[in-house]
Amino acid sequence: MDQRRITTAVNGQHFTETVNVRTTLADFLRHALGATGTHVGCEHGVCGSCTVLIDGIAARSCLTFAVQAEGRDIKTVESLAAPDGALNPLQQAFRNNHALQCGFCTPGILMSFTDYLARNPRPSTAEIREVLGGHLCRCTGYAGIVAAIEEAAGS
Ligand code: FES
Ligand code: FES
Repeated sequence: MDQRRITTAVNGQHFTETVNVRTTLADFLRHALGATGTHVGCEHGVCGSCTVLIDGIAARSCLTFAVQAEGRDIKTVESLAAPDGALNPLQQAFRNNHALQCGFCTPGILMSFTDYLARNPRPSTAEIREVLGGHLCRCTGYAGIVAAIEEAAGS
């Protein structure tokens, strides 16, 4: 199988690794780097659980090949909390509003809204629901998630 050597920054740390050209970024993050906070659900771009930031933009890591991470800055959910484990405001808002149950969908939603709130810090409820439409959650009914994002946004 064809392989390539890539250098990428993940959560501020630089890695140079040899990857199969067909390895997805999700699998690379999870299996090569041990960043298992990135979850893999549908593996075809529907559920959103694999969402990471690539150069600050939310992207489906199951639809991205690891070789496409060459020279890019990747952020996963592991980047959000402080080194001492303190939750960031968005994570804390999820906790405050019981916005997760099993938590499988949560990392992807956190990463999507890390990107979105940076671009639109005061979203309407309709705008939050529009972005949340790119994520499937089987547990919560979404109400707590919307409330958490509203709290984090201060809206
Ligand atoms: S695992 Fe990537 S969108 Fe579902
Ligand atoms: S909290 Fe279980 S899938 Fe969302």
